[in-house]
Amino acid sequence: MKTPFVFPKWTNKVPAIFAVSFTLFACFAIFAIWYWASPKNTTVGYQPIQPVAYSHKLHAGQLGIDCRYCHFNVERGRHAGVPPTDVCMNCHNLITRGPTTGTAEISKIREAHESGVPIKWVRIHKLAEFAYFDHSAHVNKGVSCMVCHGRVDQMDEVRAVAPLSMGWCLECHRNPAPNLRDRKLITNLAWKADGDPAELGKQFIEKYHVHPRTDCSTCHR
Ligand code: HEC
Ligand code: HEC
Ligand code: HEC
Ligand code: HEC
Ligand code: HEC
Repeated sequence: MKTPFVFPKWTNKVPAIFAVSFTLFACFAIFAIWYWASPKNTTVGYQPIQPVAYSHKLHAGQLGIDCRYCHFNVERGRHAGVPPTDVCMNCHNLITRGPTTGTAEISKIREAHESGVPIKWVRIHKLAEFAYFDHSAHVNKGVSCMVCHGRVDQMDEVRAVAPLSMGWCLECHRNPAPNLRDRKLITNLAWKADGDPAELGKQFIEKYHVHPRTDCSTCHR
């Protein structure tokens, strides 16, 4: 005796329909995570909480310490680098109290110095491994920190202001003039061109022989 059909015939396809829609959903979820949550799309505005409440606004802005005092490698090599605790201790062996944080934050620097365990600053700007960048190549040709990092001297906590994407790099490599200034002014973030920046920039294209390349091997090597 044949078993009576309990479900109509099309229901045989239900598991297949489930499988297909599940796969589609999974693909979409992977795509969504990749597309919306990958670093490239979260860079601008990225502002992590740092282990010590160090402020650029106070040090570089109000106290007027030059960027190169701490980022001393920026004119010499690829990386600007983040200063070792020793640099902070030049001042903070004497200055043990802050105006807003008292001794709490500065004592972290002293502890790091005494234990020899470096402060674990959270990295904000980071290109993928396959892209090549060099700070010295830029700042020595008159491109200011300001162009790529914004008014860091007004930020308590550094936040990324540029996408650091290929399109962004190329836009300037194709037309650098408006972003050039006298090399002496690269760390003067408040500086503004007198008149048309593009006109002024032309002068530095000549003076510093500025010809950024746009072939792939410039940045992918
Ligand atoms: C007294 C030392 C000191 C001075 C002066 C200083 N910085 Fe910094 N900078 C730091 C430290 C420490 C960090 C890491 C913590 C942080 O991100 O705030 C840092 C981080 C940064 C970062 C983010 C690095 C990353 O993780 O991607 C940028 C950009 C930066 N500094 C730019 C500047 C510029 C531009 C100036 C000059 C206007 C400047 N700094 C002056 C100490 C200094
Ligand atoms: C050239 C001297 C100098 C250097 C170098 C320096 N500082 Fe300071 N820092 C100061 C002064 C001055 C103050 C206090 C200002 C005041 O009392 O008004 C201060 C205050 C602070 C405070 C307290 C802020 C507050 O609002 O309470 C912290 C935290 C701090 N510094 C962290 C650092 C770190 C981290 C480094 C190294 C990356 C560093 N400083 C390097 C001079 C310096
Ligand atoms: C042409 C754009 C550009 C200019 C100009 C520039 N930076 Fe950067 N900066 C970058 C990029 C891109 C990164 C990420 C580099 C990487 O991941 O290798 C970065 C990273 C950094 C970092 C993180 C640590 C490191 O070395 O990678 C610091 C600190 C920094 N910059 C400080 C500065 C300071 C200070 C100046 C000016 C004296 C400056 N930058 C000028 C584009 C620039
Ligand atoms: C605001 C303008 C500007 C931006 C933005 C910029 N560059 Fe440049 N770049 C220049 C200039 C100017 C030079 C110097 C060209 C020369 O020496 O003739 C240069 C040179 C270079 C060089 C050549 C270094 C060498 O060893 O010859 C590399 C690599 C480079 N840039 C990579 C990048 C990457 C990667 C980015 C994006 C993350 C970027 N640049 C963003 C202006 C810029
Ligand atoms: C001025 C520097 C520069 C030049 C020139 C350049 N690239 Fe890029 N490229 C980058 C940067 C920066 C990224 C993004 C890295 C990241 O996401 O951190 C990138 C990303 C990429 C990616 C990954 C996909 C993406 O969009 O993130 C590919 C593929 C690529 N580049 C191919 C090329 C090819 C092909 C050329 C030559 C036609 C070229 N690039 C020229 C700087 C450059």
